Amino acid sequence: MSVAVACPGSFDPVTYGHLDVIERAAARFDEVVVAVLVNPGKQGLFSIDERIALLEAEVAGLGNVRVDRFQGLLVDFCAARGIGLVCKGLRAVSDFEYELQMAQMNMAIGDVETVFLTTSPEHSYLSSSLVKEVARFGGRIDHAVPPRVEAAVRAKLA
Ligand code: PNS
Repeated sequence: MSVAVACPGSFDPVTYGHLDVIERAAARFDEVVVAVLVNPGKQGLFSIDERIALLEAEVAGLGNVRVDRFQGLLVDFCAARGIGLVCKGLRAVSDFEYELQMAQMNMAIGDVETVFLTTSPEHSYLSSSLVKEVARFGGRIDHAVPPRVEAAVRAKLA
């Protein structure tokens, strides 16, 4: 049986923490669909097309990973693609409460299971929000995002 998983998120922008989870999911499941949330109510640093382009460039070497977008409920995206499993990273206990709620909600409304991969320790402090904040004030982000993403962040903030 072939198992596909969705890795959903905002990815504004993708960090080494996201990539760690995507790569480890790709090694364990047959197909990984990275699902970028389109949230018209929230202005990000990057447009959805820009986020997708950055993600696609970073996962280009992973043959079983593709990048897609979704608006609305994650369970509807999963149902439309025949995906029954969501894969997410857990950085810390602080992530757990909300992630547990979302996992249980997705099970209740869409019969979609969630599996968690614990984020590798070297990436557990990373978030897209912190990357943007540090970059805005001129701090280093090379430990947090790949060179292509760093260049894109710097260009946006210039
Ligand atoms: O990277 P983020 O912002 O932490 O990702 C959150 C995301 C996109 C996974 C979550 O907000 C989501 O699934 N949104 C889609 C709307 C939805 O399905 N809401 C109900 C979740 S229980």
